[in-house]
Amino acid sequence: MDKLRVRKSLGLKGEIRISGAKNAALPLVCAGLLTSDKLILENVPVLKDISTLALLLGGMGAKVDFANNRMEIDAGSVNSYEAPYDLVKTMRASVMVLGPLVARFGEAKVSLPGGCAIGARPVDQHIKGLELMGAEITIEHGYIKARAKRLKGARIVMDMVTVTGTENLLMAAVLADGVTTLENSAREPEVTDLADCLVKMGAKIEGIGTDTLVVTGVERLHGATHAVIADRIEAGTYAIAAAITQGDLTLTHARPDTMGAIIDKLIQAGCTIDSGDNWLKVAMSRRPTSVDIKTQPYPLFPTDMQAQFMALNTIADGSAVCAETIFENRYMHVPELCRMGANIAVDGNLALVKGVDTLYGATVMATDLRASASLVLAGLVANGDTMVERVYHLDRGYEGMEVKLSRVGADVIRIKD
Ligand code: EPZ
Repeated sequence: MDKLRVRKSLGLKGEIRISGAKNAALPLVCAGLLTSDKLILENVPVLKDISTLALLLGGMGAKVDFANNRMEIDAGSVNSYEAPYDLVKTMRASVMVLGPLVARFGEAKVSLPGGCAIGARPVDQHIKGLELMGAEITIEHGYIKARAKRLKGARIVMDMVTVTGTENLLMAAVLADGVTTLENSAREPEVTDLADCLVKMGAKIEGIGTDTLVVTGVERLHGATHAVIADRIEAGTYAIAAAITQGDLTLTHARPDTMGAIIDKLIQAGCTIDSGDNWLKVAMSRRPTSVDIKTQPYPLFPTDMQAQFMALNTIADGSAVCAETIFENRYMHVPELCRMGANIAVDGNLALVKGVDTLYGATVMATDLRASASLVLAGLVANGDTMVERVYHLDRGYEGMEVKLSRVGADVIRIKD
């Protein structure tokens, strides 16, 4: 398994091009199942998870071409409606083929995704919504089996804000017979990006960007061309790289308008921020100030930035409290950061981070992609080599992290195993 060797790299300087968002591209690929025409996606990041999903659709009989960040999906010849365990277990977002398959073909057999390192991650809301829309669902031998002559519009109130739950049910509703109201919908920009693409495909959706989506089902959707929205979490990660190394980075092809809560915390930490429609400049000229963090659904501070901001707080001036309210086990980066000399105490979903003057390089290992990113960020300011193992986690969500960081002066190399 590849490793990254990270060495102290103060004062990162230059430009980083932000890629399309993994968490927008994944539902958008699934949306390709909703039409027999071609769906063309541009600005698709080259990531393991995206390739895995393309494989899954290929296994169902769809034709998927993916080159130069452009993906063409032709689901005209889909003849299998199954998402097997061996693929779903590696990429839980595969559960998002469930809604499109039932909506278009009236049946689906999708492996339950199971938990992962950060939590149990149940999909009860996905199932509840489909049942309200008339799908007959059974859970057998670890698989969700769903059937429906034609889904019908329904009023669905989700018990909690769920991003892929909202996306799955939105994709089911666009071909249902009648009007579906999705209340307590997630408002993440990736959900909005999916809705925007569905509208281009002929879907009728009101309330895009709000917590209540009203969908009037149509008979069929047609093809479209859609560019994946910029990845706000990748951009946030490199913004932290600028802050933690007291550097000055300009992030291009970004969407600062989707990063309000992240930018607000960076300013509180002492960053100087400048931005335009599609770029964000982050500069830091001093030791950061500790900043309290509480993760919440969009538009508030995203859980996917919690580990990265904790890395910044480990070397900040002061103490900060971090509250992780979305997932029950998203502090796996903490023991690894502590091995690098950080001073962090965890109690339930709270972490108290006392800033220290120095971190020390170590061999560290992460178990989820954002935890891995936080270890790389810590390595950029640690004395000595930091070897980040299990880099396949990073490769799932970051397009060429070591390349992008090296280009702005970071001493980061990939050691092929
Ligand atoms: C999406 O996961 C993202 N993944 C995650 O990003 C992100 O951390 C998460 O949303 C929260 O923003 C993709 O979009 C592919 P949820 P998702 O359903 O949809 C509970 C990354 O690092 N819940 O919004 O799976 C759930 O357990 C990944 O890129 C239920 O109880 O998350 C969690 O506590 C990690 N029942 C909370 O809701 C359900 O049916 C939010 O989960 C669904 C969710």
